[in-house]
Amino acid sequence: MRLCEGRVAIVTGAGRGVGRAHALLLAEHGAKVVVNDLGASVDGTGNDLSPANEVVALIKSAGGEAVANGDDISSWAGAKRMIDQAVDTFGTLDVLVNNAGILRDRMFVNMSEEEWDAVVKVHLKGTFAPCRHAVDYWRAKSKEIGKPVNARIINTSSTSGVFGNVGQSNYGAAKAGIAALTVILARELARIGVTVNAIAPSAVTRMTEGLRERTEEQKAAGDPKWIAPVVTYLASADSQEITGRVIQIGMGIFSVMEGWHRGPEHAPLLDPVELGPVLKDMAAKARRNAGMDGKDLD
Ligand SMILES: NC(=O)c1ccc[n+]([C@@H]2O[C@H](COP(=O)([O-])OP(=O)(O)OC[C@H]3O[C@@H](n4cnc5c(N)ncnc54)[C@H](O)[C@@H]3O)[C@@H](O)[C@H]2O)c1
Repeated sequence: MRLCEGRVAIVTGAGRGVGRAHALLLAEHGAKVVVNDLGASVDGTGNDLSPANEVVALIKSAGGEAVANGDDISSWAGAKRMIDQAVDTFGTLDVLVNNAGILRDRMFVNMSEEEWDAVVKVHLKGTFAPCRHAVDYWRAKSKEIGKPVNARIINTSSTSGVFGNVGQSNYGAAKAGIAALTVILARELARIGVTVNAIAPSAVTRMTEGLRERTEEQKAAGDPKWIAPVVTYLASADSQEITGRVIQIGMGIFSVMEGWHRGPEHAPLLDPVELGPVLKDMAAKARRNAGMDGKDLD
């Protein structure tokens, strides 16, 4: 059974790693895919269309339909060209997978303005800009056909953002921003039939392979092939009731994350002296933030 027969999907950063696996599995399930990739290095510098072209060639050799796009998704005009290319080439757009990303890890005391700006731009604006242009298209289409469009946005967050990884303040802030954007867009776009979810993936790719030693078993669990099925299902017309979720997937984990909730409460106080012990007590009673394993810190 093919889940995405005839659907038109864009996957950003699909020349390598996690995005490449998304593109290949979406195509295997019948989607026509725009394979976007600037072909940048891990830190975001340089460009090269050959990774995107290789993925397109692989899809075509397996009998699928795909086209390459080399635009920088964090550029307003580039993101618009990519959305237009999907519609011009395949006649419509059903699925936008925002996956492209870069890293400039640094402890905060040494973080430069440039490292901050580069990472926030590619992840946060690189999610906003494609979403914004895609939503323009879907809003007009929904008006034209007189019903909701049954379209999908699938963003890429990270445990680094939602749990808070040391050494990744720029990347984590952007990834937590993407999780928040996902929740907000899910609420705003339900009306026109667009569901919005995010994944928090873990995989062994060029982005992560040098970070620590891994056993063969860990490397196998870190194959991006474990991540793509979640995206392929979410991309399908069948996933309509799932929206506003962040799904952790990869390295042996498959979980729906649970977000912020109001914790212990007290009537507001005007006197900070009186407030101090009350706040201490509430902070002690509140559920601890999760550690990087997703469980309450001890
Ligand atoms: N690998 C992991 O364990 C992991 C963990 C958490 C989150 N993520 C996220 O998953 C996504 C994919 O990461 P990956 O591990 O496959 O990395 P990767 O480096 O293998 O792939 C990222 C791709 O994005 C492309 N890219 C970068 N900037 C771009 C731009 N401005 N426009 C278009 N393309 C651009 C790169 O050329 C590259 O091919 C990223 O958003 C990353 O932050 C990965």
